[in-house]
Amino acid sequence: MHEDIAETLISTEQLNAKVAELGEHITRDYRDKNLLLLGTLKGAVPFIADLARAIDLPLEIDYMAVASYGDSTHSSGVVRIIKDLEGPIDQKHVLIIEDIIDSGLTLSYLIDMLRRRNPLSLRICTLLDKERERLKKIETDYVGFRIPDKFVVGYGLDYAQRYRNLPYIGILKPLIYEGHIRPETEHQSPAEK
Ligand code: IMP
Ligand code: MG
Repeated sequence: MHEDIAETLISTEQLNAKVAELGEHITRDYRDKNLLLLGTLKGAVPFIADLARAIDLPLEIDYMAVASYGDSTHSSGVVRIIKDLEGPIDQKHVLIIEDIIDSGLTLSYLIDMLRRRNPLSLRICTLLDKERERLKKIETDYVGFRIPDKFVVGYGLDYAQRYRNLPYIGILKPLIYEGHIRPETEHQSPAEK
């Protein structure tokens, strides 16, 4: 295990099994529908890549990048679009693929914006759902795992852009984000050493 991780919350095997299960549900629910998987950059990339291959239907994939202002462990609800979809969605059944819902602020903003574009349907699939009080209520349609209110990384999820490539979900040691030490993978120039 990586030395910045306090404990593994969800193993690679558990992730694989859950993705397969979600893929089967989605395959059943979207038969004969014009499905667009809408991934949110960057956190949902590993999830959407695995999930898309577990869905046995013709589908399209597109991405949106939104950034929420705030510090790196809390979102502020003020969201800005960094990358938009390539085309209209009014002839599509849109399934948002999210890595995690925490306060709900980011997703709630995204949902309001997408509804105004009149998709044929709009549903939400999130890998992780944090058990905490939501600042915005969100109806999720597919949920991978409900997790405790701890800061997690891996399988797409980052802290300060690190740890996205861990093949499991782990709880980050609090001293990493409390600012006592920098992520272990930080590169140092010879002058800094
Ligand atoms: P929300 O707006 O509070 O629901 O948070 C949305 C975004 O915050 C997610 O898409 C993640 O990028 C980030 N986030 C929230 N909780 C975590 C976490 O535990 N680990 C890593 N990123 C998180
Ligand atoms: Mg993030």
